[in-house]
Amino acid sequence: MERSQWGTRAGFILAAVGSAVGLGNIWRFPYVAYENGGGAFFIPYLFALLTAGIPILILEFTIGHKYRGSAPLSFFRMGGKKMEWLGWWAVFVSFVISTYYAVIIAWSMRYTIFSFNQAWGTDTEAFLFNDFLQLTVTPGQTGGIVWGVFIPLVLVWVITLGILFAGVKKGIELANRIFIPTLVVIFLIVVIRALTLDGAMIGLDAFFKPNFDAIMDPKVWVAAYGHIFFSLSVAFAIMITYSSYLPKKSDITNNAFITGFANSAFELLAGIGVFAALGFMANQQGVAVADVAAAGVGLAFVVFPQIINEFPGFNGLFGALFFLSLTLAGLTSLISITETYVAGFSEKFGLSRNKAIAFGGGLAALISILFATQGGLFFLDAADYFINQFGVAAIGLVEVVMVVWIFRKADMLRDHANAISDIHLGGWWKICLGVVTPIVLGYMMFGLLKTNLL
Ligand code: PHE
Repeated sequence: MERSQWGTRAGFILAAVGSAVGLGNIWRFPYVAYENGGGAFFIPYLFALLTAGIPILILEFTIGHKYRGSAPLSFFRMGGKKMEWLGWWAVFVSFVISTYYAVIIAWSMRYTIFSFNQAWGTDTEAFLFNDFLQLTVTPGQTGGIVWGVFIPLVLVWVITLGILFAGVKKGIELANRIFIPTLVVIFLIVVIRALTLDGAMIGLDAFFKPNFDAIMDPKVWVAAYGHIFFSLSVAFAIMITYSSYLPKKSDITNNAFITGFANSAFELLAGIGVFAALGFMANQQGVAVADVAAAGVGLAFVVFPQIINEFPGFNGLFGALFFLSLTLAGLTSLISITETYVAGFSEKFGLSRNKAIAFGGGLAALISILFATQGGLFFLDAADYFINQFGVAAIGLVEVVMVVWIFRKADMLRDHANAISDIHLGGWWKICLGVVTPIVLGYMMFGLLKTNLL
């Protein structure tokens, strides 16, 4: 059977950007930047983007384009069984992420509806944990299914798997062609409206104010690298899978730069919008921005509802557009994660695409129900912790070391990319992959092992 292909270059770029732009950009980036030096965070952030994020993105686009397979098959074709396992490790991590990522999208969907009448009331924290998620059991127990989460979760999977069933061009590409421009327009409206609120500047001031001491703190660098990997969806086998559907003649290097910069631009926009809104709330309550900012789940699902409550004029719409952006951004990422293991399973076990979607996607959907129970949030936190500690950065490290040093494929891959791309990769690319990135990631892994084992 002939391999599916993207219809157009723009289609591929939109799909790659769709994978990159996700929950990570809208709620993760603003608080990570804020907690790690504010304006000063941009220095390690840009360093990580330019020396690791984009170079690995180019690497993964080249691997997928050259070997024309999902991650396990591509690595197998590059280095045999000794490399294939790395693809499976990444596929496994993607599979686990998809099971809880879907649940957060389901919350966002539900909150889009709640926005219209501020169904969360005045105590938004109690609402989230007690009423909505019904966290009534002790950690480790599941308790009953929370229908308010379960129903949108079913919808999330129906949409995602439905799009995958429709195929690469008619499904994934078409969905991204519709979702991404819509997302950009909606999100611009949210950001512009947030910027016109009283107190917006106080928020931006807090966000951008550089704390230069932070740059000397290794933890800040670790945060920058970790965020870039998650945000760009590299080292998850995803970008290899997506680029395996590229036509032979494709400018991979240029596509990687466009994807990387578009993702960062979106992230910056999200930071501006979120902090303008936080500034408004701080101003309203006469407190400092630091007193209202929150990390993790709390930012989108506790603090934002409070902001929406205090919003002047017709507040329901602002809230709905914010949560709709989260939903759309999340869906295009979930589509890419799911495609990764669908393609991996179908090639490995010789299944048809549709069977792989039914089995792989179906299994992920079933497992995700665990996170839609009364104990769901505890399991979600555990899964997220496990993945972040043992997943991404470790895969990235092993990937660059194997490609550059063990199998010595960097020069060959560079020639492959240079033969078809306008931008020519110089020696810097190999230095970033082979020296700079392994040193930083190796240091990160060492620190993680130390804190986990000692
Ligand atoms: N890049 C996505 C985001 O920013 C998250 C993601 C991670 C998507 C891993 C796919 C795989 O939210």
